Amino acid sequence: MKRTLGVCYYPEHWPEDQWHKDAEHMVATGLTWVRIGEFGWSRMEPAPGTLTWDWLDRAIEVLGSAGLKIVLGTPTATPPRWMIDKHPDMLAVDAEGRPRKFGSRRHYDFSHLGYRDECRRIARLMGERYGRNPHIAAWQIDNEYDCHDTALSYSDAARQGFQDWLAQKYQSTDALNRAWGNVFWSMDYDSFDQIDLPNLTVTEPNHPHQLAFRRYSSDQVVAFNKVQADELRKHTAMPLIHNYMGRITTFDHWKVGADLDIASWDSYPIGFLSDRLEGSADFKQAFLRQGHPDNQAFHHDLYRAVGKGRMWVMEQQPGPVNWAPYNPAPLPGMARLWAWEAFAHGAETVCYFRWRQAPFAQEQMHAGLLRPDSAPAPALAEARQVADEIEGLADVGTAHAQVALVFDYESAWAWDAQPQGADFEMFCLAFAAYRALRRAGLNIDILPPDADDLSAYKLVMAPGIMKLSDPLRQALASFKGIALLGPRTDTKTEELGIPTPLGPNLPGIDISISLTESMPPHDAIALQNSGQFVHWFEHLEGGAKVFAQTADGQPAIMGNENLRYLAGWPDDPTFDRIINNACDALGVKTTALPDGLRIRDTATHRFIFNYANHPQDWHGKSIAAAGVHWEEL
Ligand code: GAL
Repeated sequence: MKRTLGVCYYPEHWPEDQWHKDAEHMVATGLTWVRIGEFGWSRMEPAPGTLTWDWLDRAIEVLGSAGLKIVLGTPTATPPRWMIDKHPDMLAVDAEGRPRKFGSRRHYDFSHLGYRDECRRIARLMGERYGRNPHIAAWQIDNEYDCHDTALSYSDAARQGFQDWLAQKYQSTDALNRAWGNVFWSMDYDSFDQIDLPNLTVTEPNHPHQLAFRRYSSDQVVAFNKVQADELRKHTAMPLIHNYMGRITTFDHWKVGADLDIASWDSYPIGFLSDRLEGSADFKQAFLRQGHPDNQAFHHDLYRAVGKGRMWVMEQQPGPVNWAPYNPAPLPGMARLWAWEAFAHGAETVCYFRWRQAPFAQEQMHAGLLRPDSAPAPALAEARQVADEIEGLADVGTAHAQVALVFDYESAWAWDAQPQGADFEMFCLAFAAYRALRRAGLNIDILPPDADDLSAYKLVMAPGIMKLSDPLRQALASFKGIALLGPRTDTKTEELGIPTPLGPNLPGIDISISLTESMPPHDAIALQNSGQFVHWFEHLEGGAKVFAQTADGQPAIMGNENLRYLAGWPDDPTFDRIINNACDALGVKTTALPDGLRIRDTATHRFIFNYANHPQDWHGKSIAAAGVHWEEL
């Protein structure tokens, strides 16, 4: 498949006589796709029931007849002002109990069924009108679920929905009381309508109460998305897409993805580095204008799996953004590097955000491919270059990976509810494992927690999975490679309690955790022959073989030839060593990479990306800062 480029465009922001010129310019730049519509509700329906499609009809005609394929967005992330008058209780409420106001975007509550019906209605109207329009080649539903912390809401609608959800799940308050252990602190309920949302309690709410609310809230995102997907499917055969974000674990992306055809995500490498990722000051300085060298790859691999093999970047940072604490410009070359990295990880399409920088409103300081005066911004030439390069490179395919990492959203909610150590976070643990695999130059697949077939892989990592699913447990039982499980894997019940026999209950292996410790950042557990565990350490007992020990002789890795349990969270060099040892034993070739140099193999090529701000050597070839190089395999 030939890779394609696209751009996000807002015809409603520009005078109509500019649309033609813009469309022609996009085509001349080598762009194939244009995404429109996702914030346009107030212009589609300026008053309840008054539909003004004429401008959108014309915009689609102009863009489509210029030769562009259109991704049409449903505008449900931006309900118009009249909607709030119609449904005053549709605004989400924060954990402090304060309603969030109109005046920006995403001012809706996923639990509000009246608003959900409005979304069904606008999706139906758009489907009826544009579902068979030859220019519409894909649909985007809503925009960035949970952006601006909107997946959790503590509203009346959420409370009622939560009570119904609990009643369906537990059937009786006796069952719920037992499951949650409500006898502790006299928290028993005798009717479902007594159960409130788990905010504003005096001290921490019961963990299963929190976990249930997180499960409920995720289900609302899934249901909200499905309402629109079902409606659109009646009218269009084109693929349905959502644009996910980076490092968002508040809803189960695997479940949302099951109802869609393609998973896309919005990649802002420099914004993420400054705003959303851990790293020392030196590290952040070194990658200030390039972004974290592993963050984009992690999300490409994650969303390729969420999309069942189909993945796009729906928004690609082109220059400084407006929303991070500091917003430096990318190094020249990065807008090209990020696109090629996405393609190498299987992206079908990369769309830059946005075509022209808006001279008004909240994002006026956010760069586009064009400046506000329509002159080219620096990323335009890089997009043009990528478009030319795509022409010269036939299908590069997606390569098979020998290594897999299991990622589970429920576990993220579990550890949010019960971190036990202030810096224990599911994303960080999974990302630490992923980064180590990347530093070893490996292709990685990310798998869902119910993966039932591991036969394609030699090395599988499953850190922090609160409870192994039955299919995964079975797949592990017959796994022929090496699976590295733990820390914290299979250590809890469904309800976030401690199982008896004590976990982990790994197939055919006698290990259990007798005591758990968490450590502050300045402390660590030293291992024999160098290395250390940070953040977390579990005391293991049982008859399984000990593969590594702590400096004071406690088990650090235990298991059998195929399944091994890590008793702690290895720091980066220790992770490197554990992974390299496993790969050596398995005959999986690793390539130790210097800081900032990263590789990814496709079916036909090896791609080399230099994230560093200085040239680096690759087998005698100098790769420029922000440079990309590929060679046939
Ligand atoms: C995304 C969003 C876009 C735009 C962009 C700016 O979060 O989907 O609409 O706001 O960020 O970087």
